[in-house]
Formats: sequence, structure tokens, C-alpha cells
Amino acid sequence: MRFLLPTLGIAAAATALSPATTSSSKGFYLIAHVTDPSRDFSPSIEGWALTAIHTGAGLNAAVLASASAGRLFYENGTAAQVAATQSTILTDAGTPPFPMGLYVQGEGEPPKILEINVGAGTPNTIVGREADVLVNGLDANGLGRGTYMACNATVPYYGVEYITLQYAYGKVSDGCAPIELRPRCATLNDLPADSLSSHEFAVVVPCYE
Ligand SMILES: *[C@@H]1O[C@H](CO)[C@@H](O)[C@H](O)[C@H]1NC(C)=O
Ligand SMILES: *[C@@H]1O[C@H](CO)[C@@H](O)[C@H](O)[C@H]1NC(C)=O
Repeated sequence: MRFLLPTLGIAAAATALSPATTSSSKGFYLIAHVTDPSRDFSPSIEGWALTAIHTGAGLNAAVLASASAGRLFYENGTAAQVAATQSTILTDAGTPPFPMGLYVQGEGEPPKILEINVGAGTPNTIVGREADVLVNGLDANGLGRGTYMACNATVPYYGVEYITLQYAYGKVSDGCAPIELRPRCATLNDLPADSLSSHEFAVVVPCYE
């Protein structure tokens, strides 16, 4: 009992502070949380959802949108791949559905507008925080530690500015807001028999309700 009491105290305190309930799910939306409000945009991009805009056959720019629920994502990999942070983040597109992955540039390469393209994507793992406070976002540590950023940039295919998703291994770029992408729990849909996607290796991840 002596050892239990402090634990219970911490749990109660964490519950009181927690702005959202932590749960788990195979499906999730990725929601931007600005970690340095002094670098936020006006209007704020807090709570904007990650989505994909078409830039060519099987190619998309990763952008944040206010008026969209965002794309439904899932983390794909075996337990061993998750443990080695070699799972990837997928979303299904098309009829019949096929998988598209989130691609982060390699360590040592400069930031650019990230892509959500046909294929597996680059290693990415949803990491839960200790305690039950909010769930931490994506962690591209399969490639190297860094920071997701929201950057107002022109998507060449349209010649129009979007709040694009980028990733810096070093300093956050000028004019960009450092963000975490937090998974909001969602139901991962069933797939039709002719699907090219598979949810067999969809990982149950910590997410918020
Ligand atoms: C999902 O993970 C499984 C297990 O590693 C793998 O066989 C499959 O190719 C992955 N799917 C994609 C689209 O990368
Ligand atoms: C992005 O930049 C363009 C051009 O400077 C500007 O018109 C637009 O308002 C900016 N968007 C945001 C959300 O700040």
C-alpha cells in the first residue's frame, strides 16, 4: 500500500490536468499542435488536420487544413518493426483502395514539402507519452530525430500557398511553426475484397478521443 499511494496521487493529478482522454485505435487522424505559440500563424493552425492534395499520378503534397477532417491514417508494421521504429504511416486512396505512405526526406537533406505518395512511406512511429497526458505525435526517428513544421509555402503544381507539412532535422526554418502531429482516434474502415491495401499489420496506437 505504501508504494501504491504515490502512484494513485500522480494518476489523479494527471487526470485533472489532461485536456483529452487517451485511448487506442488502429485508425487515426493527425492533428497539428503548435509547440511554440509565438511562432503560430494568424489565424492559428492549432487543431488543423493533415491531408493530401493531388500533385500528380499517385503523388500528393502533405498539407494542413482547417476545414477538413483530414485523411484517415494507420501505422503499418509487425510488432518487431514497431519496436525498431521501422513501421510506416499509411492512408488508403482510390477504388479499389491502394496504400499511400508519408515520406520524410533523409537526414542531412534540407526541409521540403513532405509527400504522401503511393508506396510504404518512410519509417515513422506513433509514440505515446508516459502518464496519460496527450499522446505525442509522429516521431520520424526511423530516419533521425527532428521536428515537424508547418510552413506557408507555394505548392508548385497549383502555384498557390498552402500550410505545408515539413520536417527539419536541425533548427526549425524561419517562418515555420514547430508542431507535433497528434493522433485523434478514428475507426479504421474495413476493406473490399479487391483491395490492394491491407490492414492486417495495422498497429493499435495510443491516440486521443
Ligand atoms: C505493411 O507491413 C507488412 C509487414 O511488414 C508488409 O509486409 C507490407 O508490405 C506493409 N505494407 C506497405 C504498404 O508497406
Ligand atoms: C501564406 O502566405 C500568403 C502569401 O504571403 C498569404 O497571402 C497567406 O495569408 C498566408 N497564409 C497564412 C495562413 O498565413
